[in-house]
Amino acid sequence: MIRPLETADIPECRDIFTDCLTDMPWRERHRGQHLALRRALETQPAWVAEEPNAGVIGFLTLQVPTDYVDHLFVDRDWRFCGVARGLLEVARIEATGALSLDVDSENMTARRAYEALGWQVVASTGGAGRARQMRLVGP
Ligand SMILES: CC(C)(COP(=O)(O)OP(=O)(O)OC[C@H]1O[C@@H](n2cnc3c(N)ncnc32)[C@H](O)[C@@H]1OP(=O)(O)O)[C@@H](O)C(=O)NCCC(=O)NCCS
Repeated sequence: MIRPLETADIPECRDIFTDCLTDMPWRERHRGQHLALRRALETQPAWVAEEPNAGVIGFLTLQVPTDYVDHLFVDRDWRFCGVARGLLEVARIEATGALSLDVDSENMTARRAYEALGWQVVASTGGAGRARQMRLVGP
């Protein structure tokens, strides 16, 4: 089930986020990402995917009015189950235009998922010692 985030979901979202970061050693240099997550969860439209026996298994936060997806994280035990697809579909309904997001160039898991979902690369940023990211736009 996908539903709007409630305050009580925030600790579970934080746990998923923290666990996902263990697969992203390049993110260690990104300061303030936990604070940014907290702000997003507290102030932006957000949805969770919930499974009756497991609780929250994924979440998405959306910046408005830019329709920018700034967090999309799925519990590692529930990947390849359509959770990201479902969360993005809900965000797309809520958005006023095409969704966009930035993905780290090192994040091949996410890049492959977005490619499978029909997202297009529209720009690259970073380089020269700075984090490289790709701007993607949704179908
Ligand atoms: C990227 C992520 C959100 C995908 O979530 P998910 O729930 O597993 O994705 P879905 O099950 O909805 O899959 C959507 C499509 O992507 C494909 N896909 C997902 N992960 C993939 C991977 N690692 N490699 C290749 N294809 C992949 C699926 O097969 C599916 O395509 P299909 O319908 O044609 O079969 C998830 O792996 C994740 O949370 N990763 C860690 C956090 C992260 O990187 N977030 C993104 C930050 S920008």
